[in-house]
Amino acid sequence: MFGAKKFVENSMKDIRKIVGDRRVISACSGGVDSTVTTVLVHKAVGDKLVAVFIDDGLRREGEPQFVVKTLKSLGIKTKFIDAKAEFFAALKGKADAEEKRKAFRDKFYKTLGKAAREEQIEFIAQGTIKADVIETVGGIKSQHNVLEQIGINPEVYGYKILEPLKELFKPDVRKVARELGLPKEISERMPFPGPALSLRVLGEVTPEKIAVVRKATEIVEEETKKLGTFQNFAVLHNDKATGIKKGKRVYGNIVTVRIVDSQDAVTAKARQVPYEVLMRISERITGEIPSVVRCLYDITDKPPSTIEFE
Ligand code: XMP
Repeated sequence: MFGAKKFVENSMKDIRKIVGDRRVISACSGGVDSTVTTVLVHKAVGDKLVAVFIDDGLRREGEPQFVVKTLKSLGIKTKFIDAKAEFFAALKGKADAEEKRKAFRDKFYKTLGKAAREEQIEFIAQGTIKADVIETVGGIKSQHNVLEQIGINPEVYGYKILEPLKELFKPDVRKVARELGLPKEISERMPFPGPALSLRVLGEVTPEKIAVVRKATEIVEEETKKLGTFQNFAVLHNDKATGIKKGKRVYGNIVTVRIVDSQDAVTAKARQVPYEVLMRISERITGEIPSVVRCLYDITDKPPSTIEFE
């Protein structure tokens, strides 16, 4: 049985021993993994930690403000980096899923490395968990935060890595979050991938496409709050379909909605959502987003598919 209290105590000791008098930077996206990591390190080394929120332009509606507010309310020194233009430039022209992940990863570490150098910091803390390592090492997909385990030396980006959660699966990370007294909005937060909405725009990522999927995501999240599912989201397709808007033929966007149950993201089942919920989502997505003419529901389990489309 995993003991969250013991884990926190041991992590404190380990982090203090590794870090010593040096300083740590932690990139916090607001997800449970990176927030627990940030709070653990803060508890261990106090003001020797600087949390960083990188606004890559790929976050959900209101997320940048929510994360910065949460970190500040926890008394953690926080730096906000606006890197939207740089991330869109790095993703420009890239349509292949793995190429996109690698471009994201490279831009992410360069941005973080630059911030670490500016603050004269040697350590980067990050919320890698066991599933990230398994999937990346197993060649399923390159999780953006897995470096050393696949032979990339993080020192090429100019720092050392601290990964206090790398032996834990998601349910245990949530136990640690509760043990640390984090608000429910964090401890029970729906998983959201590091490369964010870039994985939910199939094909090339542009600010316009991100705006479409961001709005669709907001609608799906609002309409599925009560379902208690593991992950609920929208995906924007790369191809188009015929539809009718304001009495005229339109060749418009297609959005797929995905709602899954899972314990640890290693396997997942598509939820049999009440039809009224799906209809309401479809009406809102096609009604509130002018370019979308078609809304689909994904009924595939993992395996054979994965949770995300990319
Ligand atoms: P898949 O799509 O592999 O996703 O079934 C499993 C879980 O991992 C999340 N995911 C990611 N998280 N970086 C992350 O931090 C990534 O590159 C990434 N890809 C997928 C996904 O949302 C799901 O919870």
